[in-house]
Amino acid sequence: MRRKIVAGNWKLNTTLQEGVKLALSLNELVGKGVPENVQVIVAPPFTHLTEVRKVIGNKTGLAAQNCSAQKSGAFTGEVSAEMIKSAGAGYVIVGHSERRNYFNESDLDLSSKVINAIESGLQPIFCCGEKLHEREKSIYTEVIKKQVHLGLFDLDAEHFKKVIIAYEPVWAIGTGKNATPEQAQEIHQYIRHLIEEQYNSDMADNTTILYGGSCKPSNAREIFSKDDVDGGLIGGASLSADDFYSIINSF
Ligand code: 13P
Repeated sequence: MRRKIVAGNWKLNTTLQEGVKLALSLNELVGKGVPENVQVIVAPPFTHLTEVRKVIGNKTGLAAQNCSAQKSGAFTGEVSAEMIKSAGAGYVIVGHSERRNYFNESDLDLSSKVINAIESGLQPIFCCGEKLHEREKSIYTEVIKKQVHLGLFDLDAEHFKKVIIAYEPVWAIGTGKNATPEQAQEIHQYIRHLIEEQYNSDMADNTTILYGGSCKPSNAREIFSKDDVDGGLIGGASLSADDFYSIINSF
């Protein structure tokens, strides 16, 4: 059975103290139980990783929000996948649309980041998703295909097994306007079809594909009920332990 995941992307929010407090509150709730086969993950800012690791139980996963395309050396301000792993994380978000759009991360950069992450023992949570004008022009499947091909499909099958995918339509992120469950299902099924074409049907069946974009307690249940939706990558709502826990319990 495919693993379900609910991951909270805190983005550029919380001081270290606020982040630890949020992690403690979440840990208390998660301690009451989470649905079977659901992996909870939190992705705080880099500066919080080691402290958050100390307060979340070992059942909760820890992710960074980005990693360098470089391994080491004279790259001031960068944080490598290996450093993230050594801070106690098991996952890293790669290719979030905010990184693609505000920091001009190219498909080539993202492919290197994915490889570095996997070689360092991290599971990449690889994001893809179309912008509003691409949806309106009905070219969204081409956009997703290109992102997934260039970012992931150089991986051999053993490496690809480590990949988690998040479909995050840019027009739904932080806008309060979520994709409908049917729109999410259409793309998740399409991504699974791309994986089947590139690898095989087992790989397609076993890859966890998350939905992200204005996912909240009021819509998570309906979105997660779709066959090819295996959970969510949650932004704003993950900053409230109660809301995030309620989303976790939407399965
Ligand atoms: P929101 O849930 O705030 O729309 O953000 C989604 C997201 O970008 C998660 O990575």
